[in-house]
Amino acid sequence: MTAARVSALLPLLVVLAVVAASADGALENIRATADDETQSRAVAELLRRLLGDRAREFVVSVNRSLSAGGLDVCELRSTRNNRVVAVGSSGVAAATGIYNYLKYFCNCHVSWSGDQLDLPRPLPPLTGVLRIQSPHRFRYYQNVCTSSYSMVWWDWPRWQREIDWMALNGINLPLAFLGQEALWQEVYMSLGLNQTELNQFFTGPAFLAWNRMGNLFAWGGPLPQSWHLKQLSLQLKILDRMRAFGMIPVLPAFAGIVPHGITRLFPQANVTKLAPWSRFNCSYSCAYVLDPRDPLFRRIGSMFLTLVVRLFGTDHVYNTDTFNEQTPASSDPTYLSSISHAIFTTMTSVDPQAVWLMQAWLFINEPDFWKPPQVKALLHGVPLGRMIVLDLFADSVPAYSFTQSFYGQPFIWCMLHNFGGNRNLFGTVESVNLGPFEALRFPNSTLVGLGMAPEGIEQNPVVYELMSEMAWRKEPVNLVKWASLYASRRYGNMNESLTAAWRLLFRSVYNCTIPGYKNHNRDPLVRRPSLKLKTDVWYDPADLYEAWKLLFEAAPSLVSVETFRYDLVDVTRQALQLLAFEFYKEIRDSFQAQKLPELLVAGGVLVYDLIPELDRLLSSDQHFLLGVWLEQARSFGLDEQEAQLYDINARNQITLWGPDGEILDYANKDWAGLMEDYYLQRWGLFVNTLVECLDRGRPFKQDTFNQAVFQVENGFVYNQRKYPSKPRGDTYEIARLIFLKYYPHALKRLK
Ligand SMILES: *[C@@H]1O[C@H](CO)[C@@H](O)[C@H](O)[C@H]1NC(C)=O
Ligand SMILES: *[C@@H]1O[C@H](CO)[C@@H](O)[C@H](O)[C@H]1NC(C)=O
Ligand SMILES: *[C@@H]1O[C@H](CO)[C@@H](O)[C@H](O)[C@H]1NC(C)=O
Ligand SMILES: *[C@@H]1O[C@H](CO)[C@@H](O)[C@H](O)[C@H]1NC(C)=O
Ligand SMILES: *[C@@H]1O[C@H](CO)[C@@H](O)[C@H](O)[C@H]1NC(C)=O
Ligand SMILES: *[C@@H]1O[C@H](CO)[C@@H](O)[C@H](O)[C@H]1NC(C)=O
Ligand SMILES: *[C@@H]1O[C@H](CO)[C@@H](O)[C@H](O)[C@H]1NC(C)=O
Repeated sequence: MTAARVSALLPLLVVLAVVAASADGALENIRATADDETQSRAVAELLRRLLGDRAREFVVSVNRSLSAGGLDVCELRSTRNNRVVAVGSSGVAAATGIYNYLKYFCNCHVSWSGDQLDLPRPLPPLTGVLRIQSPHRFRYYQNVCTSSYSMVWWDWPRWQREIDWMALNGINLPLAFLGQEALWQEVYMSLGLNQTELNQFFTGPAFLAWNRMGNLFAWGGPLPQSWHLKQLSLQLKILDRMRAFGMIPVLPAFAGIVPHGITRLFPQANVTKLAPWSRFNCSYSCAYVLDPRDPLFRRIGSMFLTLVVRLFGTDHVYNTDTFNEQTPASSDPTYLSSISHAIFTTMTSVDPQAVWLMQAWLFINEPDFWKPPQVKALLHGVPLGRMIVLDLFADSVPAYSFTQSFYGQPFIWCMLHNFGGNRNLFGTVESVNLGPFEALRFPNSTLVGLGMAPEGIEQNPVVYELMSEMAWRKEPVNLVKWASLYASRRYGNMNESLTAAWRLLFRSVYNCTIPGYKNHNRDPLVRRPSLKLKTDVWYDPADLYEAWKLLFEAAPSLVSVETFRYDLVDVTRQALQLLAFEFYKEIRDSFQAQKLPELLVAGGVLVYDLIPELDRLLSSDQHFLLGVWLEQARSFGLDEQEAQLYDINARNQITLWGPDGEILDYANKDWAGLMEDYYLQRWGLFVNTLVECLDRGRPFKQDTFNQAVFQVENGFVYNQRKYPSKPRGDTYEIARLIFLKYYPHALKRLK
């Protein structure tokens, strides 16, 4: 984008002047900028989108003076003519208060997989004042990867819906990362880089999260100019809407990652080439990192941030992650402090009120490097209170507990929960329920908020609803009771067998208590076949099969309810995945025991029946379609050439993840289309290969198989086939056939 094109956008923007203010009490200075009336209107409009005409039965207002010490509160009461009056200290507080009323008084539910908004008529009256308050200043949302794994192809209606969801769930500190490449391009062009050099720098859309962190370059690119404009215009709408609700959007800042071309322009600059990331080699990896103490760092960092503030306005919170999955050049504490200090002072040179929001992923990802002196040095390079640390994986490996609460820097307890946007059922409900309170009670705790930092979303909505509520509660919930109420509002039905199903799910798939567990959805079915796949699970399959049975039995009367249908598909899918484990073990064991007939039976069931049936089941629900993902990707293209580039980006991310399967299947998805044309093809090849090996008395060679199966995988990425983006088939009928056929298999294998 040229300067003229960026400037052309300027009149559209509310350009906020940076107010020079005292740095004291920086976190107190972070507050919503929209006035009370704007925030009230934003909530009223949300209710109209959600409830249509019945939104008139709610009277919403925002009065920021209700807030004590910057903490959010909402008060609700009923009027004599059956309306509900909600007064919130912010738009977010009002929306959260109303959602609480909708959940616990009206038995309603809003989720990624559908809403259940059968609102009682008239509205159930409140006796007295219902007061909902959060003891947490901040409720954070997103991981830096979410924008690539889940949000990359979203249009404005989808964004609008997500921001509504955030408001209802109390989020007031979301990332707002779109459109930043347009600004980077502007910065680098004005320094003298040319388009070729930028094309060698930016990745394609589906990989930008890792480009921003310096992990990856050029792969999936070049990034079309039309992408920049579309993302910028989306970003402006997103920021407007977030701020209208009283949220604090977090904007990007500079971490020192630069295009290689910088070394051409500034040969004297201290630029270090890092080692390759993950299993990539230097053809798409190996970042060039500018030493933050080099004067050029301040120059580039402040050019970028100035542009960010000019185009996007600011609420003073900036994220950047230095050393993400990359080892620093030196472990000398003085060096580490000087790095964080330089990053921070670059921010304050543009915005004196800047607060640095940093993911603490590095401390748990590289514990051998980050010992107490190193952690403390990095954190203390920034004045206390001017940094917010995200304790990213606190639901599993809380870092505050071994860093003396981040040595005095404020932190946010985050549930990470999801990797790569995988779709398996999973949760750590015990730690979600207890962890936030433990963090609050920790000696000299610097906890300032709770958050959700999933790499991908649109899965396991239950876990996100539970986690969101934790920020508004004074004590843990009774999980068994909570699960029952959840089932009842999700389906709008109090049936005991449904609440029983959810209690079973809560004590099995949703109750992972193994610290650091990351193996969920590393299921054989969605992995490249081999004789050495892991088959561990963290729960008792009997519980899952029983929940499956209960949902299936309730299906005839409920399958027309979108949320129920989704769960029926999802739990059936999980049951089939578990069974695929069993057939895989039988395939493996019969091969090793050289039993050809058994191999043929188990392999035949898996390849010719189970996976095709699963594909059929997934095809029948809107939320499980590869076609939707690809259609959204293509629709961003200005012409066929761009559409094809995006199609390949979209396919590569969820399969090979890199040109040669560098992060193979990390972002796997249980989607119709992918099941049939990718997972099934691989398993077919595997079973055939094993049969041939037994037949000819040859050993199975994984290397040879990998070469053959790569052709299948790569073929899928480039096949250009179109997949339906609308559901097909009768979910209940398909689920019934599957249940009748496979439930006996399940029972048999439990013995
Ligand atoms: C806002 O709340 C304050 C404190 O409760 C109250 O004094 C004031 O009248 C309220 N303002 C409006 C417009 O209701
Ligand atoms: C960009 O700069 C590089 C290095 O000077 C040069 O090799 C390349 O031809 C230039 N490309 C364009 C399009 O100007
Ligand atoms: C590096 O990776 C690229 C892309 O996967 C591949 O084509 C190339 O052969 C690799 N180079 C080396 C030296 O391994
Ligand atoms: C250049 O940067 C590296 C990495 O930040 C650092 O280790 C080195 O000391 C720097 N060199 C100079 C001359 O400043
Ligand atoms: C908490 O802070 C106080 C005052 O700085 C200090 O004396 C005490 O040792 C700290 N407690 C813990 C457990 O770190
Ligand atoms: C989760 O498992 C633990 C034991 O591992 C148990 O104490 C707890 O009650 C379980 N939670 C639920 C909700 O079932
Ligand atoms: C609950 O659902 C089951 C299965 O559909 C049905 O047999 C039972 O009668 C229902 N119970 C109530 C109380 O509605």
